[in-house]
Amino acid sequence: MDVVERAAALREYAEQTATCTKCALAAGRTQVVFGSGSPNADLMFVGEAPGFHEDQQGVPFVGQAGKLLDRLLEGIGLTRADVYVVNVLKCRPPGNRDPLPEEIASCEPHLFRQIELMEPTLVATLGNFATKLLSGQPAGITRVHGQQQEVTLGSRKVSLYPLYHPAAALYTPSMLKVLEEDFARIPELLAQAQEPLAPVEASLAPKPEPEAVQLGLF
Ligand code: URA
Repeated sequence: MDVVERAAALREYAEQTATCTKCALAAGRTQVVFGSGSPNADLMFVGEAPGFHEDQQGVPFVGQAGKLLDRLLEGIGLTRADVYVVNVLKCRPPGNRDPLPEEIASCEPHLFRQIELMEPTLVATLGNFATKLLSGQPAGITRVHGQQQEVTLGSRKVSLYPLYHPAAALYTPSMLKVLEEDFARIPELLAQAQEPLAPVEASLAPKPEPEAVQLGLF
């Protein structure tokens, strides 16, 4: 899918989800917060759920945690226009409480469809909820942050990179320091994830015939 087709597919899917009533959160929302950023991004961030400001504006990470996310991105030479940002839940839980298992179960097809459409190479999960959902493992973020792992999402292998949630790091300087350190590895992981073949596989790949090389075919 080229970027124009992907942008159109995302727009169409956003229109469909705008009227979602799969769980009780639909009753209390101002609007569905679908996701934002570049449809061409290789790097996707997955947060937890919209808060007050996100629910009002319809855009993920626009409050205090979002400002920190912007600063962290700036620190590695990126902006929100270079990445795609979504949440596990597309609707705000009342009082910003934790997502309930049944809300996650209802909403997860939206996230998986977004990932399928975006085809990201690197997915950075922010906090426990996104990390547990996409890794399929119960290990919490304190144990797994900063440890890149390969997961299969849908039909694709994706590099998953768990990070502390910016909202948790906002008021805990030691956590912020770790989050900054983990963030600093993103450019390297992104470059690795974009390589078509790992070095071992590349060395096993069939070599072009010398004659073909001479003909300039490779
Ligand atoms: N926290 C999240 O997980 N997502 C948002 O969009 C805002 C705050």
